[in-house]
Amino acid sequence: MLPRVPLTRAVVAIATVLVISVFYFNSSVIPRVTSSPGAHTTASSHRDLLDDINNSTLGFQNIYVIGLPTRTDRRDGMRLQAALSNMDIEFMDAVYPKDVLDKAVPAMSADKLQGPPLGTWRAHINVIHEIVRRNLTSALILEDDSDWDIRVRHQLRDFALSARALTQPLLTSPNSYADSTFPKPSDTSPASVPDIPFDRLPATVPPKASPYGDNWDVLWVGHCGMHFPFEDNPVIPKGRVIHKDDETVAQRRYLWTFNIPFTLKEKYPDHTRAVHHVQEGVCNLGYAVSQQGARKLLHEIALKDVNTAVDLLMRYFCEGTAGRKVHNCLTVQPAFFHHHRMAGPMSATSDIGDYGDGFRDKAFTDMVRHSVRLNADTLLEGGTNFTDQFPDVDEKDLRP
Ligand SMILES: *[C@@H]1O[C@H](CO)[C@@H](O)[C@H](O)[C@H]1NC(C)=O
Ligand SMILES: *[C@@H]1O[C@H](CO)[C@@H](O)[C@H](O)[C@H]1NC(C)=O
Ligand SMILES: *[C@@H]1O[C@H](CO)[C@@H](O)[C@H](O)[C@H]1NC(C)=O
Ligand SMILES: *[C@@H]1O[C@H](CO)[C@@H](O)[C@H](O)[C@H]1NC(C)=O
Repeated sequence: MLPRVPLTRAVVAIATVLVISVFYFNSSVIPRVTSSPGAHTTASSHRDLLDDINNSTLGFQNIYVIGLPTRTDRRDGMRLQAALSNMDIEFMDAVYPKDVLDKAVPAMSADKLQGPPLGTWRAHINVIHEIVRRNLTSALILEDDSDWDIRVRHQLRDFALSARALTQPLLTSPNSYADSTFPKPSDTSPASVPDIPFDRLPATVPPKASPYGDNWDVLWVGHCGMHFPFEDNPVIPKGRVIHKDDETVAQRRYLWTFNIPFTLKEKYPDHTRAVHHVQEGVCNLGYAVSQQGARKLLHEIALKDVNTAVDLLMRYFCEGTAGRKVHNCLTVQPAFFHHHRMAGPMSATSDIGDYGDGFRDKAFTDMVRHSVRLNADTLLEGGTNFTDQFPDVDEKDLRP
């Protein structure tokens, strides 16, 4: 029994192709074809949305940060990081589980979500609700202990170009995609498709609504584990954009994941970043939703069986499992947003989990090379000699 792509999505895809074809048919401008990601393809009369990634909301319409108002230390940290990155953020209050009425948790059986994860679910749903209420075209949602690289706009620009290669129609034949398994593998699709190299991206139709493309529901850009789509998965597109020699990626020795095997580390060289569709994502500590995505999330993870943690519900949403339809979710390995761990008592790490009575001497952020938080001194002084948490190590220097 194969899960099917919802009819509405097929209709939308066909309609999009028609609209785009009409647009190009009527346009007197002959689109230029280029293979360089730097010189992005666009009809000259249209401004490319790509530049909007430089704006104060990173090319989304808003940035929300979820956290308890009482964790003022974290709000101070996020406020400073955002200021140092020229970012506008809006705090949204996390929710205590006692404030969630049992009757208000949709459930099909007795094992409905309880305790701290129930509060976390509600906090994320409140943000998604707000995005729908305000009819935002898209928004980025972060947890209040996340950190990122000072080069995040550069990273997101590369990510946007990669996302377009996977999900925007080809410029030269607007009813097909570079990834032959998008939007959905067919019965005759190959189990895998060739990698798309970042330095030779296909020319695609420029998006109109979001710099990241017009065809996505969720961009899962902060996580603690992802798989490449499994070869035998019948519904998830298989394409990968592979960006080699990305100096913002730490060497493989520094990378970790909850998802084994860690194919990125085992099969690709040092400093490789990959963009692809979500498979088995863990931890939603940073993700963007489009307006369509937010509406679908309300439908699928706020109003259907709430029986597990919100990151697992989002995984079901993306993969089309546990009674949900499959959706268009893109991700990146390694992720852009990671946990920052402040120096001090370990117990402050979480208001949910128990991290014990130990003490952390040195602050760190997982896998982020030029962390904004750890470079605050340098940034405040206007310096350029940034601390690299994960400097390259030469193999020969490791031998005794
Ligand atoms: C956007 O920012 C990058 C640096 O992150 C810079 O190289 C680029 O010129 C900027 N683009 C615009 C249109 O300001
Ligand atoms: C940033 O760009 C996005 C995408 O075009 C847009 O929706 C958003 O309003 C812009 N934000 C600001 C603060 O200009
Ligand atoms: C939401 O925004 C879209 C354009 O982004 C617009 O077409 C639509 O009418 C808006 N809906 C509401 C309820 O305002
Ligand atoms: C940059 O900082 C490192 C470590 O703090 C130091 O060893 C190095 O000399 C500095 N380089 C310059 C050019 O100031």
